[in-house]
Amino acid sequence: MAKPKSKQNWWQSFYDDTPFHLYLERHDPAELEATLQFLTRVLDLRPGDRVFDQCCGMGSVSIPLAARGLHVVGVDLCKGFITRARGDARKAQPGVAGGAVSAVEFHVGDAFEFVPSEPCDAAFNWYTSFGYSAVDAENIRMLRRAFESLKPGGWFALDFPNAPMIRSNFQPQMTHRLPAEGGEIVITRDCQIDEDSGVMKQVWHWELPGGRKIDSNSTLRLYTPGQLVRLFERAGFACVKLYGTLDGDPRNDASPRCICVGRRPA
Ligand SMILES: C[S@@+](CC[C@H](N)C(=O)[O-])C[C@H]1O[C@@H](n2cnc3c(N)ncnc32)[C@H](O)[C@@H]1O
Repeated sequence: MAKPKSKQNWWQSFYDDTPFHLYLERHDPAELEATLQFLTRVLDLRPGDRVFDQCCGMGSVSIPLAARGLHVVGVDLCKGFITRARGDARKAQPGVAGGAVSAVEFHVGDAFEFVPSEPCDAAFNWYTSFGYSAVDAENIRMLRRAFESLKPGGWFALDFPNAPMIRSNFQPQMTHRLPAEGGEIVITRDCQIDEDSGVMKQVWHWELPGGRKIDSNSTLRLYTPGQLVRLFERAGFACVKLYGTLDGDPRNDASPRCICVGRRPA
């Protein structure tokens, strides 16, 4: 008798099953530059520092950081993204943003478990790669791994959506068109917030050039800024601050993002 397929969490297959890589390619050099400068400032990065990129995707942020002289350790669950990151790192030019960086290592692994083999000077988790479980006790495990990755005194930055802004501009359906090989991909996303659980549920409909369709689901525990700060403190971080933009403005309810930064006590 065939063994029943074990029930997976959505994030264990979503990125393999969809053309999500299109969202991870950074086409706006100004935004990428602002991200690199923001991280350099808030994480107090210095040439030669060892930096952990938790849930690194295809290395869209790690590789340009490595090109600027940092040693980056990235981890991601999605094998395809790690293969692409390793290939792009080989093609990159030292000293050129986006462009061989040797001081970079990419691992396939689960960020709920993975801690780099040597402690890092700083760490980050970028572009909403956190809060995927509906259960706080699960999500906090990822923050604890980030905390354990750091040397005492090291900073960690988490890039998360700003829940008050999402609620006040709530759009139950969004459509994006992204250029892809052979035409364009049309992505329609239906979204609802379950206020009892604080979970935002999204159903994604992907229409590929040629007519093939893919449907997929995701969930995000839509933490309020205060809840994020408390989770950081429970994970051991001190000096926790919130930023609302890549320019370093303090977060307010209209800010586009909620970037939470905390320090492993010295
Ligand atoms: C929205 S993407 C962001 C990727 C990357 N941080 C960036 O800025 O390009 C989320 C990433 O988190 C990864 N991810 C989600 N859950 C993970 C887990 N438990 N362990 C490792 N990676 C995970 C996904 O595979 C995906 O690459």
